[in-house]
Amino acid sequence: MKKLFVVGVGPGSPLYLTDAAKEAVRKSRYIVGYKYTLSTLEGVIDRKKQQVFEVTMKSQEHIYQDVYGKMKDGEYCTVPFTGDANFSESEVVDRLLEIFGDENVQIIPGISSIQVAAAKSRVPTDKALIVTFHVTGEIEQKKKDLVQAVKEGRSVILLPRPWPRDLSKHLMQSDIAKFLRENGVDTSKLNAWVFERLTTDRETTFKGLVSELEGKEFSDISAMVIDQTKRQTYLEF
Ligand SMILES: C[S@@+](CC[C@H](N)C(=O)[O-])C[C@H]1O[C@@H](n2cnc3c(N)ncnc32)[C@H](O)[C@@H]1O
Repeated sequence: MKKLFVVGVGPGSPLYLTDAAKEAVRKSRYIVGYKYTLSTLEGVIDRKKQQVFEVTMKSQEHIYQDVYGKMKDGEYCTVPFTGDANFSESEVVDRLLEIFGDENVQIIPGISSIQVAAAKSRVPTDKALIVTFHVTGEIEQKKKDLVQAVKEGRSVILLPRPWPRDLSKHLMQSDIAKFLRENGVDTSKLNAWVFERLTTDRETTFKGLVSELEGKEFSDISAMVIDQTKRQTYLEF
């Protein structure tokens, strides 16, 4: 059978690449991924042994099918994903499961940008609403959940939605700040973090109020935290 590794490679730095991810890549005859993700794997890929295909949103369907067609029984392909393959990637992962069949796919989890943002902001993932707007599907319910979580005093760790070609779908930090304000949240009292290009040498951190995000632009490669966390240690119990 033709086998597929769906591999999370971490947010950018090879330091966040697991040994399991490296092993999958080394076993594979084909590596098919987006440019940013492939760059994280550069030190692991051996172009003498492996054929590498770079995909875009437009070309991916054609390339996945093409590589599947080229593969022989017993060969492995790796499709790497930024961060964790199990977070905000399902539109592609579900298609790959369809092409290869569940029984021929092994998913290797990675360290998500969400986890690195949690670590930097000291907002534990178990105390936050974790949400991605980085999907092509409907996000109205997610937006409602966001307002509700903030009003209930919960923290939120989220990925925004860059969609510069259709501003009605674009939902970056500035849009989120405006949306919260327009939905009755006092954003001038709400703490926020924005992390751009986490783990890379171009990483930046914004720390301030949600209201200050209105009108500010950030990279597509960014994660946002709304921080309402109250620290509570075991001494209290
Ligand atoms: C399709 S989602 C994939 C998320 C990924 N699977 C994960 O677990 O981090 C792409 C978005 O992830 C976020 N992201 C990925 N790498 C990042 C990084 N190094 N720093 C900040 N955000 C990142 C950005 O919001 C980016 O637009």
